[in-house]
Formats: sequence, structure tokens, C-alpha cells
Amino acid sequence: MIIYDDYSLKSLNTFHIDVTCRHYTEVKSVDDIAEILSHPGFEDTDKLILGGGSNILFTKNYDGIIIKNSIPGIEIIKEIDDNVYVKASAGVVWHQFVLWCIAHNLSGLENLSLIPGQVGAAPMQNIGAYGVEIKDVFESLSAYHITEKAIHHFQLNDCAFGYRESVFKNKFRNQYIILDVTFRLNKTPVFHVNYGDIRNTLEQMMIQELSIKAVSDAVISIRSSKLPDPAVLGNAGSFFKNPVISKHQFDQLITVYPLMPNYPQQQGDVKIPAGWLIEQCGWKGKVVGNTGSHKSQALVLVNYGNATGPEIYRLALDIQQSVKEKFGILIEPEVNLV
Ligand code: FAD
Ligand code: EPU
Repeated sequence: MIIYDDYSLKSLNTFHIDVTCRHYTEVKSVDDIAEILSHPGFEDTDKLILGGGSNILFTKNYDGIIIKNSIPGIEIIKEIDDNVYVKASAGVVWHQFVLWCIAHNLSGLENLSLIPGQVGAAPMQNIGAYGVEIKDVFESLSAYHITEKAIHHFQLNDCAFGYRESVFKNKFRNQYIILDVTFRLNKTPVFHVNYGDIRNTLEQMMIQELSIKAVSDAVISIRSSKLPDPAVLGNAGSFFKNPVISKHQFDQLITVYPLMPNYPQQQGDVKIPAGWLIEQCGWKGKVVGNTGSHKSQALVLVNYGNATGPEIYRLALDIQQSVKEKFGILIEPEVNLV
């Protein structure tokens, strides 16, 4: 295991922010993690775990050690009736894992195709897309407690998964290194094709017989048409979460904005697409210095080349303020600010 000093993070975050960290290392096993955490030089040093860097905005150089989790491996744990339990290590690239499941005819993650990042970060915000979240097929995970230096196991109910939320993002933030995640997948496909444009896209693709590969291809096609490729244009996906407002506030707003898209939630609350709110405030496609709100998806803030973290954060604050002023709704960042 090599430890680098003053290491550039530019190629390690999808916003391509040009910052450094004081120390950097890559771990490929639990032994590597134990070694780095017991290194006498780093006991009092701040630590940040990094996956694919696709949900992080660095606003300054990181004055600590960044531990890039590259633990490899995918393993079938057990099969019970129609379910196959598959464990993927934290360093596996998420989309490669989804493709592995499809190649093995295992259904459950196909709607989550093409989400950037690694398996280890997926539970952090309970990644979701096109009507599916990982909590729907999550079985368990193991994670290394940074100060106790012990492995803890988490079942579904321990994780407090919500919309873009988990116990790891909140109560246990920066306390654990997620090592691996086990998913409960299905041999008999369970299709989720009612969300968004999936059905239309399948029709356009002239799919005769539904399959998990076809659903994945449709999701990939929709995502590629809407979301900028971080390899080409720096971004971290949706910068903000979609806000959930009370029925009372919704009833007032809908009389003023009858075209406001809305998704009723279980408790009577209503989710509003932040992209619509931001577009209504005039930000969509707007370029501000080296940054801006993307022309096809207002919720995605982009780096046009040399943007700094504070520049993108300033734009985010301005957008947040204008949405608050126009609609009285506070939109909160989804991206992790460091
Ligand atoms: P990172 O950005 O490296 O880390 C994210 C957070 O998790 C950080 O706080 C980090 O410290 C922590 N972390 C990372 N790995 C570990 C670990 N092993 N143990 C403990 N903590 C860890 N998200 C969605 O939910 N749905 C989408 O549809 C979606 N679309 C996207 C589209 C684009 C173009 C982009 C750029 C991003 C998108 N995202 C989406 C956000 C992002 O892909 C996910 O949040 C992803 O899970 C982040 O993975 P990562 O490995 O890049 O995490
Ligand atoms: N909209 C606009 N203008 C825009 C963008 C969106 O008016 O510029 C409105 C439209 O009414 C559209 C609706 O918002 O129908 C929803 O847009 P979209 O289908 O693009 O989805 P989203 O709500 O913006 C969410 C997730 C994405 C996820 C997609 C698909 C959040 C914060 N974002 O986006 O996740 O891929 O749904 O399920 O929940 C991410 O988390 O990084 C991410 C990309």
C-alpha cells in the first residue's frame, strides 16, 4: 500500500475540481484498511472515504487522508427458492455490477443501470432511479468502524434508508468504511417499467419481449439523452434532492402554478421536481463564469472547464435562494460538500 502526499484529486471526482489532499492511499482489502487505520502517523488525521467521486463537491484542499476504496469481488452467497443473494465488494464499479447481474439473469438492479460510482457508496444515499431504490433489494452490508477498528453488520432495518438518505449519511457519517453489500436478487424477473419514459422507450426500441437487458438498455438510453457524461462535462448528477412539501403548501402553490409537476407521497406530502423549480427561476442552461445549470436538466450543475468548488457552491446557493424566494421551498443539496 503506497501513501502519497499532496495528491491531486482532479481525476478522482466527476466535477473535476482541481484540489489536493494532504495524504492519499488506495485500499484493496480489509487488511489494508486495518493497516492504514492503525498507522501511528494518521491516528489524529481527518479521514475521508472515496469511491468514484461522483457525489462529492470539493470546496477546498482536503487537510487529511483520503482512502480510496478499491476492494474487488462479486460472489454468490446463497440461493433460496427464487432468490439469489449476491455480495459485491465496495470497490466494484456500480454499473459493472449491474451488468454482471444482468449477465447472470438476476433481476432487481436493472433500473439502476449507468449510475456512476462504486458499490460501497450505493447505501450512503440509497441510490435510486426509475422507480427503484437499492433498499428494495438490499439484504445486508458489512462496514469497518473507523475508531473501534471492528467490522459491524447491518440489516435492512439498521440502515434507516429513505429518499437519498441512510444512517451512514447522517447519524454515522464518517464513522464507517462500507466493505461490501449483499443484494437479494430474483431469478424470475420483476419488471418496473411504469416510471417515466421507460415504456415509451421500450416501444421506440421495438422490444417484442420484455427482459431485464431490455429494461437496462431503455434506462441507459433515457439517461444518456438527459444527463451529461461526467467524462465530457464535469458534474455530480442531481445537485439537489427533490423537495417534499406538505399537502397544505402544495394546495396553495398549485393554485398559483397549475402546471407544477408533482408526485403525491404516502403520508399525504407531495414531492416536487427540483429541476422544474430551478427552470421556473430562469436558471436552466444559464452559464455563470465557469459553471452553470445544464441545458437539458436544470438540476445538474456543471463545470465548463476550470470551475472551482466555491464557484459551483456559490451558484448552488444562488439557485437555492431564488427557489426559496419564488416558491417558499428550501431545496437541499444531494451532493456531499467537503
Ligand atoms: P463518492 O462520490 O466517492 O462518495 C459519496 C459519499 O459516500 C461520500 O460522502 C463518501 O465519503 C462516501 N463513501 C463512498 N464510498 C464509501 C464507503 N465504501 N464507505 C463509506 N462511505 C463511503 N445517484 C442516484 O441515487 N441516482 C441517480 O440516478 C444518479 N445519477 C447520477 C448521474 C450522474 C451523471 C452523476 C455524476 C451522479 C449520479 N448520481 C446518482 C450520484 C452518484 O452516482 C451516487 O450517489 C453514487 O452512489 C456515488 O458513488 P461514488 O462511489 O462515486 O461515491
Ligand atoms: N424538470 C423540468 N426541468 C428540468 C428537469 C426536470 O421541468 O430541467 C421536471 C419535468 O417535469 C420532469 C421532472 O422534472 O418530468 C422529473 O425530471 P427527471 O425525470 O429528469 O428526474 P429528476 O426528478 O430530475 C430524479 C433523480 C435522478 C434520477 C431520475 C430518474 C433526484 C434528486 N434525482 O431526477 O437521480 O436519475 O429521477 O429516476 O431524485 C441523482 O440523484 O444524481 C440523479 C440523477
